[in-house]
Amino acid sequence: MSGIFVSFGVWATVWIAGLTDRVNVKIVLKKETDETFSGQFPQLRLGKFYVTELDATIKYRWPSGAAEVRTLNFSQWFGSGILHTKVWIVDKKHIYLGSANMDWRSLTQVKELGVVISNCPCLAADIQKIFDVYWYLGQQPPVPLPRSWPAKWSTKYNKDTPVQVTLNGRKSEVYFSSSPSPICPDGRTPDLDALLDVINKADRYVYIAVMDYMPLIEFSKPVKFWPVIDDALRRVALEKNVEVRLLASCWRGTRPDMAKYLLSLSQLNHANNASISTKMFYVPSTPDQRKIPYARLNHNKYMVTDNRAFIGTSNWSGSYFTSTGGVSIVVHNPNDTTSAYLTPTLQQQLAAVFERDWNSSYALPVKEALDKCKMTAIESSLVQ
Ligand SMILES: *[C@@H]1O[C@H](CO)[C@@H](O)[C@H](O)[C@H]1NC(C)=O
Ligand SMILES: *[C@@H]1O[C@H](CO)[C@@H](O)[C@H](O)[C@H]1NC(C)=O
Ligand SMILES: *[C@@H]1O[C@H](CO)[C@@H](O)[C@H](O)[C@H]1NC(C)=O
Ligand SMILES: *[C@@H]1O[C@H](CO)[C@@H](O)[C@H](O)[C@H]1NC(C)=O
Ligand SMILES: *[C@@H]1O[C@H](CO)[C@@H](O)[C@H](O)[C@H]1NC(C)=O
Repeated sequence: MSGIFVSFGVWATVWIAGLTDRVNVKIVLKKETDETFSGQFPQLRLGKFYVTELDATIKYRWPSGAAEVRTLNFSQWFGSGILHTKVWIVDKKHIYLGSANMDWRSLTQVKELGVVISNCPCLAADIQKIFDVYWYLGQQPPVPLPRSWPAKWSTKYNKDTPVQVTLNGRKSEVYFSSSPSPICPDGRTPDLDALLDVINKADRYVYIAVMDYMPLIEFSKPVKFWPVIDDALRRVALEKNVEVRLLASCWRGTRPDMAKYLLSLSQLNHANNASISTKMFYVPSTPDQRKIPYARLNHNKYMVTDNRAFIGTSNWSGSYFTSTGGVSIVVHNPNDTTSAYLTPTLQQQLAAVFERDWNSSYALPVKEALDKCKMTAIESSLVQ
């Protein structure tokens, strides 16, 4: 069996595979998947290839028998939120986890980051348990959250006892975290705990690339102040002089107040020898590209410290940890400081990606970036 789940649409290749007898495809999606975008595509001058792929993302047009599909309505359990996870599990041994939704835009028009792990049955089995929780929750008629989760979905791999595997030929300690915590069976580290643990264990630096950063539970009504991550970053900067760099995204959908939270953090730069800086990453677009909804932006969500890699699917704001389904992978390479002749560790690869982006001409000072976002918002209102 292959379990595959996606949050936002699917590729034609998957349904073709699903139509053969060889491959069993299971998909879990958020409830409100995404016919809303379909009407806008015929007018795009992007070529037939993309349009065909888009057609494949619309659930109800799938040929029957290509996949078993379940949808999750997070409001049912949490009052708000969505399934935001983006994970593929193939043949119980290969995994993709990252920021990319499974529609054509994600891998052609959106800047994403994820990790592919091949030939790793123990990690695949572990993340399959997270899938199985979603699958359970997607059944009809709707089920309540269980008071306690069955033991078969518990895990022994978490922040205190990660599993030891070889990634990139290097000894690595790995675990998956999940959010929100009510859907974490015994042993599963909640996403937020994993994120804070990685920040707190940094000795020299914390580099973060994330689409949105806000110390708010922004989907609650009324909105609540939620300084949990913000406090952790300020604390490591002030107490341990860990260098903090935060690269958020700037696109026409960016909330202007996000700049204020970033500027507020960077105000601490040099206070008590702290080093905190923030920038915004801007993806340029042609007039045609600008017509594509939810595209041309830096959608990645990861953190790299001097000793750990953290790749997730959540924005860094409260609602993503209180009511939104997400997963992260945490990788640590204990005692492994050596060996230029070996492949780099995941941490080293991620640090190189971060530095590339941070140093690039698309990473702008926050104030400058905002002007650029505003400009594209005006342009986009003219073309629509
Ligand atoms: C999701 O559940 C909520 C609360 O039960 C309900 O009000 C809403 O209509 C549901 N949404 C969909 C798309 O079914
Ligand atoms: C900042 O670091 C310098 C050099 O390490 C040290 O002399 C100074 O006392 C520190 N200042 C504060 C406020 O900690
Ligand atoms: C967070 O990320 C998603 C996509 O991953 C995006 O659509 C959403 O608008 C972002 N921001 C907030 C505040 O939810
Ligand atoms: C790493 O080093 C520490 C301290 O020397 C040791 O206790 C630990 O077992 C080592 N871990 C691995 C995985 O080698
Ligand atoms: C980024 O810039 C810093 C400071 O100028 C430099 O030390 C570092 O090597 C650069 N990294 C990359 C990947 O260009």
